[in-house]
Order: sequence, then C-alpha cells, then structure tokens
Amino acid sequence: MVTMQMLRSAGELNRWRREAGDRPLHFVPTMGALHQGHQQLLQRALQPRAGVRPRLLVSVFVNPLQFGPAEDFDRYPRDLERDGQLAAAAGADALFAPTLEVIYPQGVHEITRIQVPASLQRELCGRSRPGHFDGVATVVCRLLALVRPDRLLLGEKDWQQLVVLRRVIADLGLPLEVQGCATVRDRDRLPCSSRNRYLSAAERLRAAALPAALAAARFEALATPAGVAAEALITAVCSRLEAADLVIDYVQLVQAHTLEPLRRPQGLTLLAAAVHCGSSRLIDHVLLMSRPPIVAIDGPAGAGKSTVTRAFARRLGLVYLDTGAMYRALTWWVQRQGVDPADARAVAPLLEGLDLQLSTGDAEQQRVQINGHDVTDAIRSPEVTAQVSAVAAHGCVREALTRQQQAMGARGGLVAEGRDIGTAVFPDADCKVFLTATVAERARRRAEDLRQRGFSVPPLPELEASIAERDHLDSTRAVAPLVQAEDAVELVTDGMSIEAVIEVLVDLFRQRIPEEAWPGPH
Ligand code: PAF
Repeated sequence: MVTMQMLRSAGELNRWRREAGDRPLHFVPTMGALHQGHQQLLQRALQPRAGVRPRLLVSVFVNPLQFGPAEDFDRYPRDLERDGQLAAAAGADALFAPTLEVIYPQGVHEITRIQVPASLQRELCGRSRPGHFDGVATVVCRLLALVRPDRLLLGEKDWQQLVVLRRVIADLGLPLEVQGCATVRDRDRLPCSSRNRYLSAAERLRAAALPAALAAARFEALATPAGVAAEALITAVCSRLEAADLVIDYVQLVQAHTLEPLRRPQGLTLLAAAVHCGSSRLIDHVLLMSRPPIVAIDGPAGAGKSTVTRAFARRLGLVYLDTGAMYRALTWWVQRQGVDPADARAVAPLLEGLDLQLSTGDAEQQRVQINGHDVTDAIRSPEVTAQVSAVAAHGCVREALTRQQQAMGARGGLVAEGRDIGTAVFPDADCKVFLTATVAERARRRAEDLRQRGFSVPPLPELEASIAERDHLDSTRAVAPLVQAEDAVELVTDGMSIEAVIEVLVDLFRQRIPEEAWPGPH
C-alpha cells in the first residue's frame, strides 16, 4: 500500500516531486481544519483527465498575512494529525505542511508581496478585510512557486478569492490551470467551512438563515424575468438575516467576474453576503444567470470541431447545434430542386417556408430534416461537400439561417459550432472559442481520415494547398467571413488528442460559467 507522505520543508517537497513520477500534479492549498468540503475538493482533484490519474498534493498552512489584526489567526483551528488522516483517506499522495520559515524565509514583514488590483478588492470581503486578498495572493504565489503544480483547485465558496487568484495567475502568466469546484453544503445548507466549528448549536440554527435568505432572493430574481432591482433583493436578504439575529457585514449584488456593483442582475451575477454570528464571520452567495449558457465554437474546416463540440456538449449537458449541418441540408435541398447553388436569386425563393429541423435532444445522434426529408446521412456526401461553401456564402441564406439559429438559442443551454457563431449568431455567447490547427496538421488529419475510409490519399503538399485555399476563401468572402471574434480564445489543437481538446474546452467554459451556475455532469 502506498502511504501519503508528510512534507515539512522545501527540500522534502523537491525530493517528493522528483521521485513521484511525471504524472500531472494537482494542488489543493488549505489552511487545515479539513472538512467535508475539502474532502470533496480532493476527490475532484484526483479525477483522471484525458485518461491520466494525476498526483495530488494538499498543503496546510495558516497564513498570517491574510488575517487582520482583530481577526482569528491565533484561534484558527489547527490539527495537523487529523488533517493528515483526512487527506490520506481522500487519496492525496502528499501533504505539505510548511513552517513559517519555509514560506516566508525573510520573515513575514520582509516578503515581496503581491498587490491585487483595487477593482477586485473594493467590494464584498475586500471592503471589510483590507489587505486580506493581497495576503492570500502572496501566499498562494509562494506556494505555487514551491509546488509548481499543473492545476490548482479552489472552492467556489470563496468566490472573490477564486476571481482574485484566477486574475493574479493570468496577470503573472503562471503556467497552470485553475479549477473552481462547487460549494459543498451541510444538511442545513450552510456551506462547509473550517470556521463553522466556532458555532454553538443555537448559533448554527441561526446561521442557516444565511443560505436560506440568499436562496429565497435567487428564487425571487429568477421569477422576475424583467429583472428585479438590486435594492429590492438586498433589502429582502437583509431583513431575513436580521430576523435571524445575524449581524450583517455586507449584502451585495455584483457582476460575477469583475465584481462591480450592479443595479440589477445582468449576465452572470453574484448575490453575496457576509454576517457575524456569535464570534464567527460567515460568507455565502448565490449566482444568478438570466438564461442557461451559450458556447460559440468557430474555426476553419478540418479543425475537428464537430467531434469535440459534440462530446463537449454531452459532457456539460448542453444541446449541440451543428450549424454546418443546416447549411449542408439547404445545399442538399438546392441540389434536389435542380437550382444552381451559385445563383443567389434562384436560391432565395427556396428559403421561404423552409422547414429545417435538427433534433437536438440527443447530442450523440443529431438528426437533420429538411422539408420532411431525413438527410442526416445524405448531407455528408461529396456532392454536398463540394457546394456547401457556395450556398453558405449568399447573404439571403446567411440571414435566414442565422435568424433560425438565434431562435433555436433564445432559451440558451447550447453549444453552437460553425464559422460565424461568436461574431454574427451569438455575439453575446458566454464562452467563445476559435478552434483551429495549422494547415500542416489539418492536412495530416485529412490524409489519415481518407486512408481510414479506404480512399486514395493525395500527396500532403496537394492537401495542404487545398486547405489553405479553402481558408482563404472562407476568410475573405464578403458575407459572414470566417474571423475570430475579438473575445474568443484561440485553441490550436496540433498534437492534442480529442480528449485533451475536450478537457481544455471544459476549462475554458468553467472560467466563465462556474459549477454552481451550471452544474452539468462533470
Ligand atoms: O481558502 C483558503 O483556505 C486560503 O485562503 C488559501 C487559499 C489556502 C490561502 O491561504
């Protein structure tokens, strides 16, 4: 049996890193007093990614830099032995419990500090805990420098901390992924927290009013599609908290990513509160979203968009909208009617009363029907492939199908894949990705695909030239050219397995849409 290692010094940590092999290293920093919330975080951190089981390191360090002078640093619960047992039981490979000297070799006052942007600590906990987030960012950066993990896992419970650390890591260009995990709650819905153990039984009963007040406000907000005013929501939460004798630190409505105060819910919105209950300070929040998320995946031909988008939709419980299939179905209909695909004026009348349907219920098996004909397989024929670009380039076609796609997405909850999703169809998509691969890689994949399907394979330079030519046509055509939306993230998939691309897509999605807002299957 492999036992969990307890590491106290940087030397021990380095030795463990060298000896523990080269599987990806996942890291969960904590201040100890581990509870069920941590345990679930550790279990999530151990989940294999693209088929590889990671190594997991947990740290326990009560960081003096993030406590204010009147806060609970001295009495913060410390029980390393129990933490070790819990971490081992959850499956961690090692627990790093550094001394103060390991983290701050020059002393707490001499350490180089990270200064978090003012905009991210002006509101919420930053308002009543000055210097707290600078202290968190400093210790986490120090820990990251020592541990050098591939992935950092943090609870969504400390939402402001998650936003701050994502930003610090991005601004410093630190080479790791950050993953937020949904808040774990006890039976009374109170979020699990090390500080809950300060609560007496009577306080615990009163504390349950915090999640209840926020949940009630969320319900009210969602029941008011026109958007309820921040003031009304905040007042309602405050009166419920006061009725339970909780002393309010703040109740605020802010934009979830920028943390700027809002007058009413807009996009992904955070309604958060902090209260004092006895000697404990408790925080909690709910997330509000006006509609389920929309993801836009654009990119050139042959980048493998369909395969990964379909699997990604399934992973997240979103509907898969293959807009390319719609253009293909129309091309099939144009050909069947004997109309010249290049003649916009001849194609236009076919758009009137067009009945084009995608059965989107099952992401695996998207069926395509046009005017009563099931064309799921027919639209993949070489004849359709040869002419779909010409049909899709007509302004009237773009307009009609864009309108239909927007209607299909009006209720959200989908991933749309195509050429102009992030720019023309869903410019307000929550997450936009431009999925591409170099011409050489796409030619290699195309050759492999042809070989597997028993077709003769043209020489690679010939394939490369035709792909480059198609790119040129797609990106220079007058109507709906293929361009990367300004706010899209480019993902170049050269050398990546399909599973690895899907993992990156999930990470990109989760940077925008937390688990609490759209749980989806993990
Ligand atoms: O969330 C915590 O427990 C702490 O703020 C952290 C991230 C371990 C830094 O001390």
